[in-house]
Amino acid sequence: MSGARARVEPFYAVEINRLANERSRRGLPVIHMEVGQPSAGAPRAAIEAGHLALAGAEQGYWESSALKERIAALYGERYRLRPGPAQVILSMGASGALLLVLAVLFEPGSRVALPRPGYPAHRNVLRALGLVPQELDCGPETRFQPTAAMIAALDPPPAGLILTSPSNPTGTMLERGELDALAAVCKARGIRIISDETYHGITFGRRAHSMHEFEPDAVVINSFSKYWCMTGWRLGWAMVPVDLVDAMNRYSANMFLAPPTLAQHVALVAMDQQAELEEHVATYAKNRELLVAALQGLGITRRAPADGAFYIYADISHLTGDSLAWCRQLLDATGVALNTGRDFDSIHGGDFIRVSFAVSTPEILQAIDLLGGWLHCRNDS
Ligand SMILES: Cc1ncc(COP(=O)(O)O)c(C=O)c1O
Repeated sequence: MSGARARVEPFYAVEINRLANERSRRGLPVIHMEVGQPSAGAPRAAIEAGHLALAGAEQGYWESSALKERIAALYGERYRLRPGPAQVILSMGASGALLLVLAVLFEPGSRVALPRPGYPAHRNVLRALGLVPQELDCGPETRFQPTAAMIAALDPPPAGLILTSPSNPTGTMLERGELDALAAVCKARGIRIISDETYHGITFGRRAHSMHEFEPDAVVINSFSKYWCMTGWRLGWAMVPVDLVDAMNRYSANMFLAPPTLAQHVALVAMDQQAELEEHVATYAKNRELLVAALQGLGITRRAPADGAFYIYADISHLTGDSLAWCRQLLDATGVALNTGRDFDSIHGGDFIRVSFAVSTPEILQAIDLLGGWLHCRNDS
């Protein structure tokens, strides 16, 4: 018999992805806009470096000091910060970093606040570690992001706050002044900030700021999965204050022994392939523009602004009250796979869909045609 801890919430994106893959196996076309991963792979030169490393380098447990130095340097390039390489803790994706950070920072039973809608693993990993998620209801009036006033009103204050900018699922970002105000209220109230910066590098016309610029005691997590297009390589990192380095390294050694060796060789080269990576960001920007215009034309007008990441979070409550069933029907009728908002918001998510636009532009155009045709048919019937 399994206990309460075995009752983990479903990940609907994975379920829709399974249905989409079944459809592919039956020889039917699918456009995958349900999962949050770039359709492009790691940069070409990085893959070549991977081949060389497979042929020449040892593949034992290993941590690349060159990669830690390169990541520390990235904080200089992007944010004019000067962290030491020791503050970079390499991990199995941002997912691994999140697990390590939460295990190091909080005693079981501690409350940690986080926005709803938000990335479901934040909430579910908190629960898995015996921590208590305190969801902040964030709607369109605050661009689906928490505000300093919301944090000031929490009584008693939580032990921690998880922020995600750009956000999954909404793509909305916290501006410099908002990050500064959140940092100040958290400092004053003794709340530790965990800033999930997994989508940094993918922004449209604005610059993402790291929480480290405002609060050196914040813990930042990041990943090679999104900007560097390396989802399956399972590599990310936490950037932690100096006083947490030893504890993070000890937990990391106990939980994972070492980050994936081959992925570290590949990531080091990927970090200097800016031109190729920026082409992907330019594609996302074009896809975003096409999709926003098409959704507007189809009457799907209440959408989060999508400042960054590669998602559009749209309110479809005028079309359905059950966006999971709606996504299944759309997939069945057209092969366009989208995700329900229920993954991100257990209360209002049935009114929302999340559309990933990290696919090719021809796929976006085809998906727009198929969605438009399907909606017209439904209106007519
Ligand atoms: C906000 C956010 N954080 C973390 C992750 C985990 O990414 P990974 O473990 O692939 O680095 C994701 C993946 O979609 C995400 O959207």
